Amino acid sequence: MEAYLNKGIKKIINQFPEVENILDEYGIGCAPCNVGTCLLKDIIEIHNLNTDEEQKIMARIAKIFYPGKVIKIPQIKRKNKARLKEISYSPPIKKLVEEHVLIKRWVALIPEVIKNLEVESKEGRQLILDGVDFIRSYADKYHHAKEEEILFKYFDEDLDILKVMHEDHKQARSHVKAILEALDRKDKAAIAEHFNAYGDLLNEHIKKEDEILYPWMDKNLSVTQIGELFSKFNEADEQIGYSSAKYEGFINRFEEKFKQKEL
Ligand SMILES: [Fe+2]
Ligand SMILES: [Fe+2]
Repeated sequence: MEAYLNKGIKKIINQFPEVENILDEYGIGCAPCNVGTCLLKDIIEIHNLNTDEEQKIMARIAKIFYPGKVIKIPQIKRKNKARLKEISYSPPIKKLVEEHVLIKRWVALIPEVIKNLEVESKEGRQLILDGVDFIRSYADKYHHAKEEEILFKYFDEDLDILKVMHEDHKQARSHVKAILEALDRKDKAAIAEHFNAYGDLLNEHIKKEDEILYPWMDKNLSVTQIGELFSKFNEADEQIGYSSAKYEGFINRFEEKFKQKEL
């Protein structure tokens, strides 16, 4: 078992395709990820599974490696038990992680937006347009643009993981387009459907970036490149002419508005 634990997950999946299904059940999508640096034993730590889940998942995988045999599952030594809380990002990557926090606050408001959907009144339509403006101006032009036009350019864009990230951004844009088209038709169900799909997509996307992609990128960037990234991000923000603070104010107002409605 020890030998397999120290083997790259890509090789394991090639040899034992059933392992991929087990990982999928735990939301660990290794197959489309082409970073290729993770060993089987790292997968558990990277994805922050608890000890119970770790034992269950390893027992099932061991059955695939050694059908019909009883295998003692070694407890995987963790370098850091609370790894996720303690990932230390470089300053430019940390900036992107902080931008995610604001996007996640907006995504958390989507159920409230849907509950209050109103397409006939000016106020109701404005609420939808304000949400779309946040997505387009902040999540996309301010944040995704820094990833696509600056950060991702430091890596081989043919990597599957980067293709997946680009595809997520594209899909997010198509949901926004669909929301606006549905608003023209006053189609509440379609607006709700695409807001929900956008929220689910972004939650997953941000998780992949925060937990897998960014730490891996950080490990592979040189000190010079990190410095370069930092100044390129600042330049991009200056050029766009608005800051996170503008949209933080917007999210604060939105949260406040819905909190008052609940009172
Ligand atoms: Fe992204
Ligand atoms: Fe991002």
